[in-house]
Amino acid sequence: MADGDGDGDDDGESVDKTTSMKTVSRHFFGDGPDEPAFSISIIENMKEDYGLFVWPCSVVLAEYVWQQRSRFVGANVVELGAGTSLPGLVAARLGCDVTLTDDAIRLEVLDNMKKVSQLNNLSCKVMGLSWGVWDEPIFSLYPQFILGADVLYETSAFDDLFATVSFLLQNSPGSVFITTYHNRSGHHLIEFLMVKWGLKCRKLLDGFSIMPSSKASKISGSIQLAEIALNMDKA
Ligand SMILES: C[S@@+](CC[C@H](N)C(=O)[O-])C[C@H]1O[C@@H](n2cnc3c(N)ncnc32)[C@H](O)[C@@H]1O
Repeated sequence: MADGDGDGDDDGESVDKTTSMKTVSRHFFGDGPDEPAFSISIIENMKEDYGLFVWPCSVVLAEYVWQQRSRFVGANVVELGAGTSLPGLVAARLGCDVTLTDDAIRLEVLDNMKKVSQLNNLSCKVMGLSWGVWDEPIFSLYPQFILGADVLYETSAFDDLFATVSFLLQNSPGSVFITTYHNRSGHHLIEFLMVKWGLKCRKLLDGFSIMPSSKASKISGSIQLAEIALNMDKA
């Protein structure tokens, strides 16, 4: 499920079956397949609908964080709709101060985030953050990087998601939202959202263009990566 081919082995890495539904997958980061700098272990639950798989968009975003590591070192990072949290965990491994968030009502997902953080000896904060909901903790977030892998999949949730993203971008001047999504409508979706929310897409990349061949061959579909900031031209 993680890589779309049903074998749960999205980086070609080892997968240990710990129960009939739970697996632990390992994801390697480095400058070549033979020189991993580190690996991140993720607990996945194949029973869940959303949130407890490592979706392909998160593999692409995690790889981007690794490749752009010089920008991330020591930064404050918030991951939205983090699910199994691979991009946020890579950021934490690079020394970032990371808050992993997901829908406040999805307690199993939030609990899994704490477990994966501990499993990798990282000290990420875990927070329930439902898009478009203004609970107190959101006001204490000042991220330099907001990450979101596969959070643009349900059009009815776009307004709530972008209300939260816009708030965080405004609360933390100079910050950027980096998201990976399945491209189903050319560039129309991003163009529409940028105009609607007064944002600017600073970078739009084909996800596969940044993936090492050993990982790209395990991922299917058209995945886009967008780096989004406030549109200061409009101010
Ligand atoms: C397709 S999954 C992606 C999970 C993970 N980012 C990945 O790529 O592996 C979408 C995630 O968004 C979260 N989500 C959906 N609606 C949400 C909402 N209204 N507020 C916060 N999180 C939400 C889900 O719980 C889920 O973890």
